[in-house]
Amino acid sequence: MTELTTQKDASLTAIAAANTLDALEVQRVAALGKKGWVSLALKTLGQMSPDERKGAAPAIQSARAEVAGAINTKKAELDAAALEAQLASEAIDLTLPAPELAKGSVHPVSQVMDELAEIFADLGFAVATGPEIEDDWHNFTALNMNESHPARAMHDTFYFPDAAADGGKMLLRTHTSPVQIRSMKEQGAPIRIIAPGRVYRSDSDATHTPMFHQVEGLVIDKDIHLGHLKWTLETFFKAFFEREDIVLRLRPSYFPFTEPSVEFDVGYANEGDRRVVGGHGDDAGHDWMELGGSGMVNSRVLEFAGVDPNEYQGFAFGLGIDRIAMLKYGMNDLRAFFDGDPRWLAHYGFSPFDQPTLSAGVGSRASGGGA
Ligand code: PHE
Repeated sequence: MTELTTQKDASLTAIAAANTLDALEVQRVAALGKKGWVSLALKTLGQMSPDERKGAAPAIQSARAEVAGAINTKKAELDAAALEAQLASEAIDLTLPAPELAKGSVHPVSQVMDELAEIFADLGFAVATGPEIEDDWHNFTALNMNESHPARAMHDTFYFPDAAADGGKMLLRTHTSPVQIRSMKEQGAPIRIIAPGRVYRSDSDATHTPMFHQVEGLVIDKDIHLGHLKWTLETFFKAFFEREDIVLRLRPSYFPFTEPSVEFDVGYANEGDRRVVGGHGDDAGHDWMELGGSGMVNSRVLEFAGVDPNEYQGFAFGLGIDRIAMLKYGMNDLRAFFDGDPRWLAHYGFSPFDQPTLSAGVGSRASGGGA
């Protein structure tokens, strides 16, 4: 029995001294493992007579219980200490100021306007602007739409209640075309400008909002013809969508301020629920999508703007910025553009460092939540 007591005391001392779970496990195996001293002591019971066994068994059982209890207690102690250490190392000090997060992003419309300016600047176009609160003369009359012109009715114009100084009506411009007039009056010819900006029409559904964005293009010089217009549009769209397989279709149309007038379509295919431009609209699985209007500037418009139509001629075009932004970056509801939802902006917005440049590529990727 004294041997048992010595072994038990040695085990208890070693268990108390164990300061890692591994060291404790070594002690458990040495005592309670298959070849541990407790197990060996239990085996000796088998060779004893029943009487001897009755005398020896309780001491072995109680030694085993004592050692097992000590191991459990020590294990709980070591586990608690480990958890404590982990909590201490992972603690967050809530009194510290929050880390600096990227705030805000560049709206896709602004990004696309920068892309437009970059591509057209390379083709020799300057950026021109005009007022969004416009007068009747610049928005309609000078664009060859007099008071009784039926095309005025198609513009769903927002008028202001008060008249302008000259007695004409004031309105929210319905297109960027009045900037053609203002630029020609200011600069004369030759001229090469684009005019991106907001326009307004009383219209609202999934593809129309009362405010949207257009870009106007105007080239006036000597010997300008429709071929220049087609080349310019095609060159622009190839650079903008960054694909060589852009196919444009020009369709005869009518605008009071151009003669002849053409609407231009681009070939596209549906890929899943996304429209992807490129390819020929008459090929299998492809279709045409209208992108804007254009034509040779009507000689009456040149006269209104003070440019001599016998000396100069040129082309103009207008296209929807929101629509080409949706096509390029894969949004499908125009209204979300103007909801101001921070989650939408974080997803589709651009980092201010995402500057479109021709050398680095104007096809910057949506930054996706400031990532
Ligand atoms: N201003 C026209 C529109 O808003 C587009 C256009 C611009 C057409 C220039 C021809 C030339 O529909």
